[in-house]
Amino acid sequence: MNLTRKLAVSACVVAVALSACSRQEEGGGEVEVLHWWTSGGEARSVAELKKMLEERGDSWKDFAVAGGGGETAMTVLKSRVVSGNPPTAAQVKGPGIQEWAREGVLANLNSVAQAGDWDNLLPGVVSAVMKYEGNYVAVPVNVHRVNWMWANPAVFEQAGANIPTTWDEFKAAADKIEAAGFIAVAHGGQPWQDSTLFESIALGIGGASWYQKAFVELDEAALNSPTMVKAFDTLRMVQSYIDKDAANRDWNLATAMVINGKAAMQFMGDWAKGEFTAADKVPGTDYICMPAPGTAGSFTFNIDSFIMFEQKDESAITAQAHLAEAIMDPAFQEVFNLNKGSIPVRLGMDLSKFDQCAKDSSAEFASSSMNNKLVPSWAHEMAMPPANKGAMFDVVTAFINTPGMSSNDAAAGMANAGKL
Ligand code: BGC
Repeated sequence: MNLTRKLAVSACVVAVALSACSRQEEGGGEVEVLHWWTSGGEARSVAELKKMLEERGDSWKDFAVAGGGGETAMTVLKSRVVSGNPPTAAQVKGPGIQEWAREGVLANLNSVAQAGDWDNLLPGVVSAVMKYEGNYVAVPVNVHRVNWMWANPAVFEQAGANIPTTWDEFKAAADKIEAAGFIAVAHGGQPWQDSTLFESIALGIGGASWYQKAFVELDEAALNSPTMVKAFDTLRMVQSYIDKDAANRDWNLATAMVINGKAAMQFMGDWAKGEFTAADKVPGTDYICMPAPGTAGSFTFNIDSFIMFEQKDESAITAQAHLAEAIMDPAFQEVFNLNKGSIPVRLGMDLSKFDQCAKDSSAEFASSSMNNKLVPSWAHEMAMPPANKGAMFDVVTAFINTPGMSSNDAAAGMANAGKL
């Protein structure tokens, strides 16, 4: 028995009444967790999960695969599962959960879910995604909003520009920002970042019901439409305000350009807020969070979750249950999301420690859902099967990297990508 465990067990002997102790006494297994949370804010967040698990007497084997958006992590996961050696848990989202469940390799989490009352503590749209054939196979962590714009108000002020609420206003502001010697848009030229940017532009141009038709229903007429063409025209315009060193820049380095006042804006989900928080920056003063132009009232959601792979060893099964239970624990939901930039996925949480961006996100999550303006983020695996998503990434990135590619060709490419 290691020292931490010995201390935990003896503490339980003294305080048998504490329910946390009974959990610790059962601990002692190892969980290997695959994730791609390697930036400053992300690492602080995942450290909280590791800590809570260790408090339950288990050990954490970190399986971090760097690369925002998780594409590399998913490739590594496939090879581990194919070789018969899956981790205990892996960060997998949206329709990807169902694909893994169909392979018959996932554990059934129903007993933890029933004990924790997950059916009542999760929004129905979320629990549906976490279940396969009625059984829980994944546990959700948070709700990220993707259609955010992060702005440095000092840069706007020095440039004499207003923070934009439409793409026309964006152009006017970006011209002033460049004239004042700043980079208007901080971006990293990686496929998932290209599509994250395009997703927000498309939502702003086409609105939530067109977005739903195009990116969720994969409706051919919506995909290959004048609205899609206009969205690509707007992407071309926005692209002209990205600096020439953007190729392959990581997203958190782009966020750092806004934090340090080199650039005025970044279009990125609220994991970017985790970077501002880690740098001790205060929302409303040091930085501004605003919906991306044209998207106020709409909400592209991105829910991080972990799938759990079937285990043979008894201690691994127990440790895995501890991990699932820890993720839904209110204390974890609070501290993790404070660091991560997201909001808790668990309903009924007290948000008093959260900042205004998180409170806005929570309010818009609720109101957008009542107004049919709550849509899944396709750039973050929530809306369509991974194969369609990959094909759409290819179109958007080809468009960005091919100055001669027309918006009409790109729209036709999106329709083809929807047909796979
Ligand atoms: C994940 C976030 C993560 C971001 C950047 C997104 O797809 O949902 O949790 O912070 O990628 O890596």
